[in-house]
Amino acid sequence: MSRLVELEGTKPRKLEPSDVDPEKGNVAICQCGLSASFPFCDGSHRRTRDEEPGVCYRYEGGERRRVEAVRCVEDPTGESEQ
Ligand code: FES
Repeated sequence: MSRLVELEGTKPRKLEPSDVDPEKGNVAICQCGLSASFPFCDGSHRRTRDEEPGVCYRYEGGERRRVEAVRCVEDPTGESEQ
């Protein structure tokens, strides 16, 4: 399975002492892309438990949808080229 995730951040976030979970003593970084407190895990990954292998999903407005196709187009500004 895979997920399409849209992120708007443009810079890194530095971890602060306040980011450490006082009960567990650790920092959990989200790797599913669904956390409302990204980059930190908020437990939203539980929604991915029944995802099927080989299927791509998009989570939008609280709903999960299967992605049938992704269509890429040329960037008319050329800004994505290096
Ligand atoms: S890994 Fe993404 S919310 Fe937990």
